[in-house]
Amino acid sequence: MTASTNPLVAFGAGKVILLGEHSVVYGYPALAGPLSFGVTARGVPARSCQLDVPVTADAAQKRLMRKAFARAARLVGEPKVKVTLEPQLPLSAGLGSSAALAVALSRVLLQASGQVPTPKATAILAWEMEQEFHGTPSGVDHTTSAEEKLILYRRVQSPAGVVGRAREVKSPRALSVVVALAGARSPTKVTVGALRERQARWPERYRRLFAQVGKLVTEASKAVEAGDLEGLGDAMNVNQGLLGALGLSSPALEDMVYRLRGMGALGAKFTGAGGDGGAVIGLFLEPGPVVAKLTRDGVRCFASQLAGPRPHGDRS
Ligand code: MEV
Repeated sequence: MTASTNPLVAFGAGKVILLGEHSVVYGYPALAGPLSFGVTARGVPARSCQLDVPVTADAAQKRLMRKAFARAARLVGEPKVKVTLEPQLPLSAGLGSSAALAVALSRVLLQASGQVPTPKATAILAWEMEQEFHGTPSGVDHTTSAEEKLILYRRVQSPAGVVGRAREVKSPRALSVVVALAGARSPTKVTVGALRERQARWPERYRRLFAQVGKLVTEASKAVEAGDLEGLGDAMNVNQGLLGALGLSSPALEDMVYRLRGMGALGAKFTGAGGDGGAVIGLFLEPGPVVAKLTRDGVRCFASQLAGPRPHGDRS
């Protein structure tokens, strides 16, 4: 390590996509915000550049983490640092754990090689790792994690190749979701790959659906900026219908969506990859009692504020 022998500590936030997952892969916008927890990476001086993978990861996850780390480490000159990881969010639950991990690792690697881990530099390095994890990611997960803001994100083709464009969406009201886990999660690569096959076979039909989602995302971000949480919730519900039409939902996800709506959610949908199971979000004005009730019923869940003014001292 260059600058000092003090341990390096960096955080990468998990994320939820409020609207626009999957269509974002095809160049349409998505609205996504950071979770208050994610992955912490710690680096200490070592004889070579090494990664200590978390014991909770399975063999395939460990292999991928090592490969992604090696790819990023090569790009910053393999600083002599040993990095350990502390995930605070479930791995492979659709909450951006790989992006959080990539962002935390990128920040430590940049610092260890004497560079400043700006959001931009972090996002560039994390993007390299995300390609190992997901094949053809849109970039929304790691950009949300690196920016740590509610963002409107779009993947655009530029002369330099594919780049991600993000702008902050400010909310005058506290925007909080309940995140609940349902069913057995399908890997992102699998749901993205299956959708790609369907859209390659019937391109016009799927283009129409992606464009509809894109319009909803634009309307939803205007609703957020206007403090219209009811309008945002309705856009989330319609987005869930379109995700079903795209063949990405399942009974386990739909059951949880209807459960959250039955508990008073202004809007509810799955977030992330979809498939057989994963994470479902519900937009609530008062998420606390909902989390307490679901927890009593044995559902793995938590609340997170994605944007807007926070009560003094609150980081949840
Ligand atoms: C995964 O969190 C979001 C997807 O849209 C994939 C991507 O954007 O790369 C399903």
